[in-house]
Amino acid sequence: MAMIAYKCPQYRVTVVDINPTRIAQWNSDDLPVYEPGLEEIVKASRGKNLFFSTEIEKGIKECDIIFVSVNTPTKTFGSGVGMSADLQYWDKTAKQIRQFAESDKIIVEKSTLPVKTALAMERILTATNNGVHFEVLSNPEFLAEGTGIKDLEDPDRILIGSRETPSGLKARDSLVEVYANWVPRDRIITSNIWSSELSKLVANAFLAQRISSINSISALCEKTDADITEVARAVGMDRRLGNKFLNASVGFGGSCFKKDILNLVYLCRHYGLEEVADYWQGVVNINEYQKERVITNMLSTMFNTLAGKRICLFGFAFKANTGDTRESPAVTISKRLIEEKAELVITDPKALDNTKMDLDSIEGNISYIEDPHEASAGCDAIAVMTEWGVYADLDFEMIYRSMAKPAFIFDGRNILDHKRLFDIGFNVFPIGKPPLTHFK
Ligand code: UGA
Repeated sequence: MAMIAYKCPQYRVTVVDINPTRIAQWNSDDLPVYEPGLEEIVKASRGKNLFFSTEIEKGIKECDIIFVSVNTPTKTFGSGVGMSADLQYWDKTAKQIRQFAESDKIIVEKSTLPVKTALAMERILTATNNGVHFEVLSNPEFLAEGTGIKDLEDPDRILIGSRETPSGLKARDSLVEVYANWVPRDRIITSNIWSSELSKLVANAFLAQRISSINSISALCEKTDADITEVARAVGMDRRLGNKFLNASVGFGGSCFKKDILNLVYLCRHYGLEEVADYWQGVVNINEYQKERVITNMLSTMFNTLAGKRICLFGFAFKANTGDTRESPAVTISKRLIEEKAELVITDPKALDNTKMDLDSIEGNISYIEDPHEASAGCDAIAVMTEWGVYADLDFEMIYRSMAKPAFIFDGRNILDHKRLFDIGFNVFPIGKPPLTHFK
């Protein structure tokens, strides 16, 4: 919404939320989300044509287009528990819109939703005949965290799904006009509403599948002395495959991939497509396997016991350039390390507040130190969880001197200079590459 306000000074954009603390943060100097470039565009438009408010009723009454971006987490109860999307917030919002709307509205699904949600939305909105016409569009968001502003400014595509009725097509054209203020027309694509809803789930499933594919091969590389970076390079140079999203890692995280794939799996099972469901479930299974592999590798390398050993986690965010820790592989890995009775020191440039909340209920010896040099002092091992650029430029000579010996580095993102670390004295265990150790 900040980007629309920034690019389209002729529109008035109001963001409403039920959470007054969040809205106050959006109205303050300290925004509740860390995203490079966001602060600048919010500050450029706020108070001019971008407003943050808790006045939901007023917002609904005044606006012509309503983007619904409520959360749709995986269900934690009842039918479809752990798999399907929890649509209770979505349902409530639809009812609120119906209650307060006094003029025709275009309702845009921005949240990622199961296919056919628009139908449910339409049914709720038209359940009381109050003379107001609602047109529901699907306009999924494809931005990635950390690069969100760039992705919004220069998107690969904007997708708008609509009903193929005259009023559906008219509403679709209105939304095309909004994006056409800054996105080239050939990158604004339209489709039927169900294709649009499904495309969002499929795009995330394909991206996650690539990571699970490369991570599964990283396990094979470790058994065969092949090097995953060399394999990824050779494979990615095939233009049909492309070289993006082929970085082996401790596993994918984030609030979307797992949730969306489970949602897809649930949908397939609902329609009796068991083989298709199993195929996509495999992507999630490999991701869980990869996280567990990190632990078993650490255990076997560090002489089959981690009890009482101090392990420093470099990074906790699910990826670099964000403070977001939702579904971060570091969450699972930390819990497993604590089960093994290791002591944890966690460092991250942006995510320590969220990390503390994530691990709040865990009983164990965990400390949080922002400076990685200080955090690693006295530790037996460093494990890189997040690919923050700063970790490549640390004073590893000093770090090595301050650590217990033998000193281990597990590079779960393959971002460090392994040869150099080995020469300093570390025993180095990358992902999907032969380890460099000083053991005979
Ligand atoms: C993802 C998609 O990339 C976006 O297109 C989508 O809009 C978004 O989900 C969403 O549905 O909201 P995001 O989760 O922000 O974006 O981040 P990604 O860059 O996709 O990374 C996801 C995870 O995969 C991270 O943990 C990252 O470290 C990991 N990853 C990524 C790898 O392990 N290897 C790679 O080569 C790339």
